[in-house]
Amino acid sequence: MNDAPTTGPIRAHVTGWGRYAPSQVLTNADLEKMVDTSDEWIRTRTGIRERRVAAANETTASMGAVAGLRAIHTAGIRPDDIDLILLATLTPDYWMPSTAALVKEAIGNTKATAFDVMAACSGFVYGFATAQAYIQAGLAKHVLVIGSELLTRFLDYTDRSTCILFGDGAGAVVLSASDEPGGALGVEMTTEPQGAYMIWLPAGGSKSPPSAETIARGEHYVRMEGNQTYRFATKTMATTALESIRRSGLTPADVNLFIPHQANIRIIEAVAKGLDLPMDKMFINLDKYGNTSAASVPIALAEAVNEGCVKVGDNVTIVAFGAGFTSGAVTIEWTADPARGMTADEAIRPEDVSVRLPVDWDSVDPIPDALAALMRQPGGIDVPDDVAPGEPEHAPRPATVGR
Ligand code: ACO
Repeated sequence: MNDAPTTGPIRAHVTGWGRYAPSQVLTNADLEKMVDTSDEWIRTRTGIRERRVAAANETTASMGAVAGLRAIHTAGIRPDDIDLILLATLTPDYWMPSTAALVKEAIGNTKATAFDVMAACSGFVYGFATAQAYIQAGLAKHVLVIGSELLTRFLDYTDRSTCILFGDGAGAVVLSASDEPGGALGVEMTTEPQGAYMIWLPAGGSKSPPSAETIARGEHYVRMEGNQTYRFATKTMATTALESIRRSGLTPADVNLFIPHQANIRIIEAVAKGLDLPMDKMFINLDKYGNTSAASVPIALAEAVNEGCVKVGDNVTIVAFGAGFTSGAVTIEWTADPARGMTADEAIRPEDVSVRLPVDWDSVDPIPDALAALMRQPGGIDVPDDVAPGEPEHAPRPATVGR
């Protein structure tokens, strides 16, 4: 990481924000044709009217890259100014590499450290708090925090208790170091593993690697104990937000807008009641997107700012809960001109952003020029020009390599 400030009190300010929602819409009426449910049940029990579904050519990385570039555009910096990329997701493109690494390449960044954050729906808030800590420690100047999810590929569309809830999308912010007052204030995060099996995805990990049997049993789909999760969420969202506000030296009445995780309108109503606040202090867009897990808070934050719900000097509390169980909240004193985000969607078009694909093993073979040059330096290691596993023979090595 370069150019990080080394002196003075450092604060983390939100300087950029952006979001991306796939264009395909799945309505409650569409779901009525797939499972035994009704628009009325979904609306009254959850508040959701429709959700977005990623197109076949979209992935968590591609959506995250679009949202990330929009946030960078809003911040008025270049992709290469970012020195840390944190991507929160429970639906990565691959188990490895990290989706953050794919996004780094897709946005044209050459210098950032990039890694994924796994805390389910709390992931973006966990990433935000991590970015804040890096900045305050003087380890980074501009951090890109992304929440991106492609949940619709992990849902069982015969299970009406889960498939109606979730949707796809991505949101992002840029946090920047500054010695000006304001920015991110108090943080609170909790992890309560007694809820570990209340929302989970049973197969695919080392405990139960994917096999024909795990697929036959549908263990590659999200499972959830809705009632237990609901109970945890209503209790924890309010207490987590309250602790973040207290650590900021504020009271709930000092907070102008809450950006809660968009899981269920009834959970958000319970949070407002718990904090003794009116519902107009809660930003809501779950009717349009459903629960987009780690993407839900940054999508809502970007929309709230772009819709004029936040002004300079406002206190904004982002708060989420999720599988684990996890919860997290950060209170922010808003310092950026809200108008800055208005042009990001036109400036960054999804069709102009691409994530490199492993079309076949051959596409993995070439060592990137910069890495090859590094290896060719005196004392460098002997590098075959064919590193793809499973190939019968290595191609002949150029005489210069490794010398
Ligand atoms: N359509 C119609 N009926 C349904 C549906 C549906 N889609 N789903 C369930 N039902 C039925 C149930 O079978 C049950 O019928 P019964 O009384 O005959 O047994 C009835 O509706 C009531 O079911 P409940 O589960 O008690 O309904 P509830 O009011 O609790 O709502 C819900 C369920 C919406 C899932 C709620 O519990 C909830 O929102 N929980 C939190 C879930 C959540 O936020 N998860 C995300 C966590 S974040 C993360 O990390 C991924």
